Amino acid sequence: GKYRVISTKSMPGTRWIDLLVQQDCRVEICTLNKTILSVEDIIALIGDKCDGVIGQLTEDWGDTLFSALSKAGGKAFSNMAVGYNNVDVDAATKYGVAVGNTPGVLTETTAELAASLSLAAARRIVEADGFMRAGLYEGWLPHLFVGNLLKGQTVGVIGAGRIGSAYARMMVEGFKMNLIYYDLYQATRLEKFVTAYGQFLKANGEQPVTWKRASSMDEVLQEADVISLHPILDKTTYHLVNKERLSMMKKEAILVNCSRGPVVDEVALVEHLRENPMFRVGLDVFEDEPYMKPGLADMKNAVVVPHIASASKWTREGMATLAALNVLVDMRSLHINFFIILHSI
Ligand code: GLV
Ligand code: GLV
Repeated sequence: GKYRVISTKSMPGTRWIDLLVQQDCRVEICTLNKTILSVEDIIALIGDKCDGVIGQLTEDWGDTLFSALSKAGGKAFSNMAVGYNNVDVDAATKYGVAVGNTPGVLTETTAELAASLSLAAARRIVEADGFMRAGLYEGWLPHLFVGNLLKGQTVGVIGAGRIGSAYARMMVEGFKMNLIYYDLYQATRLEKFVTAYGQFLKANGEQPVTWKRASSMDEVLQEADVISLHPILDKTTYHLVNKERLSMMKKEAILVNCSRGPVVDEVALVEHLRENPMFRVGLDVFEDEPYMKPGLADMKNAVVVPHIASASKWTREGMATLAALNVLVDMRSLHINFFIILHSI
């Protein structure tokens, strides 16, 4: 192969490797037995000649790495993630390295996990599962693990982009929830969908669903029963949900986060969970991954999973393929029909 392409991790499927090999690349996959690679590890991988790198969201792609990649002749870096808060795009630009991410293929998978966490929290699935396994079940009782009915309640979405909109649609259509959302941009297609679905329900003699675009985030927090966070992480969204905002929410609200951990002040969240036993939370991401803030693991009103929102086979293979295509396009200036390739996975 003429081009040397490194992947810092082994990735699902083989299609991404085939694509690179077909386009004159030699692919090297890091075999270091470490979950997360340090900047030094990656510099060693890049070596003297490297044309492109596929990296992970756990890696710190800043000035040091882009400088090393550029010195090695590198032209492309692809983050195997839709989020790129781990990438300093200005630094990459300074060193002439193009940056790619993997949107689109993870939209539905991620929204489905947000929906799963919403349901797990609403119906106390994890708590009840633990109760069964501990041998505590002695028979049906009227008050055993009573949770929240979603139908007719309001789902709140903060950040109605691809993932937030897909989640909103699932909750509205699947559970007949009303929608309130906050976003800088109007989610026109989502609004049209809720309107049409509301008319359909009405025509069938059912209570129609409604939507509202909130004029502030606080309005969503105050009015919604289930709130899911879907912003990007940057300076403006760091600790977006803090102590003050938690206190605005209903005492029995559910908060779901499948975006990035630092969007929520996790210390304030633990305190809030402790003081409000009816408040529940479903978390896929944490402020200091892989760690949880002290006390969170003991809270029965929290469902916690290890950053698996995009973890379906189709999506992970798609992310790997898209990451490889990004490297090829940027490194070789190839024109590839992404749509056709992704739909044939
Ligand atoms: C996962 O967190 C992603 O950004 O793809
Ligand atoms: C519950 O199992 C019921 O039959 O109401």
